[in-house]
Amino acid sequence: MADAKLQSVLSCLSQVARELDPLLSGRPAPDASYVKLNTNENPFPLPTMVWDGAIAALERQYLYPEDDNLSLREAAANAYGLSKDQVIAGNGSSEILGLIYRAFLAPGDSVAMMSPGFSFNRKLAMLHGAQFLEIGCKQTHSLPTEEFLLGPARDAKFILLANPNNPTGTFVPIAEVERLLERSDRLVVLDEAYVDFAPDNGLRLVSRYSNVLLLRTFSKSYATAGIRVGFGFGHPELIGRLRNIQNVFNMNVIGHAVGISVLAHRAAYEENHRHIRHERERVTTALSQLGFSVTPSHANFLLARVPEGHNGRWWQAALERQKILVAFFPDKVLESCIRVSIGTSQQMDAFLAVVSDISASLRVA
Ligand SMILES: Cc1ncc(COP(=O)(O)O)c(C=O)c1O
Repeated sequence: MADAKLQSVLSCLSQVARELDPLLSGRPAPDASYVKLNTNENPFPLPTMVWDGAIAALERQYLYPEDDNLSLREAAANAYGLSKDQVIAGNGSSEILGLIYRAFLAPGDSVAMMSPGFSFNRKLAMLHGAQFLEIGCKQTHSLPTEEFLLGPARDAKFILLANPNNPTGTFVPIAEVERLLERSDRLVVLDEAYVDFAPDNGLRLVSRYSNVLLLRTFSKSYATAGIRVGFGFGHPELIGRLRNIQNVFNMNVIGHAVGISVLAHRAAYEENHRHIRHERERVTTALSQLGFSVTPSHANFLLARVPEGHNGRWWQAALERQKILVAFFPDKVLESCIRVSIGTSQQMDAFLAVVSDISASLRVA
């Protein structure tokens, strides 16, 4: 029987929310017997000093966290050579991405992203009733600058670039990003989620250009995806406007403490980053020998085109049956690819052993 009260409630939803199907419960977290290489986490334990800071923060659990994330913003400003007014802190960089959409977009507006790119942006654009312009890259390690400046993307409210890019792992020279900032009068959101695995970064652009907003996260390179720490760096006026529309007490006391101690102990992660770069090259070579075509990566993951005969979805399912989780994207340009996060040597050995077994069984069949 139709529930009249529920229908009346649902009729009050905004048009955007009405068009989306209600989310059913998500997938349960895979147990520890799975090798999880599908969401680009960093599987190493926290350095002891960072761990101790997190435990100490639990003793302040009964207090609200500090207003406006002040100490964390100050610590980030000191670490990155900025002023605290140039820094916003959030529950991961995805919170700050969400604020940018809320601040800049009204229904009917458009936003432009280098494509293929971080798919969460497509959902954010949809939630704001905005048109999502995906600007394809003809060359993998360079920007589609002219397409951003001319054509439909010219009227976009902001431009999104992830560098290194997800899911390709490609890296565009900072000089090219700088040329786009010079020539465009639009906000360019430079998402550097994976920059600690790359040869350069765009931090120096923040004080040079008022139309850049740099995003950083501690989820990928500092092993805190579950604690949720991210930052935005930009002009104080822009950052102030985003802080204005942020939830009160958005981060928790553990996020604050971990963020501050990661910033103080970044050097303790050098071995972790060196390991990931090393494994990335080892797995690239091994996959290439097994017939995969791997895009050279500057991130903590690889985009690998699977050998002819099966598509990415097939490989993802075959690997999952052997308890190896990798990512697959249904988009046309990515359907023959899988994305594999780089983890510990043992995890990568387990992944390569299963890929090798599957390849052997396909040769026999
Ligand atoms: C390009 C990019 N940006 C931002 C994020 C969000 O990271 P977080 O919200 O964990 O900081 C991700 C996560 O996968 C990503 O790939």
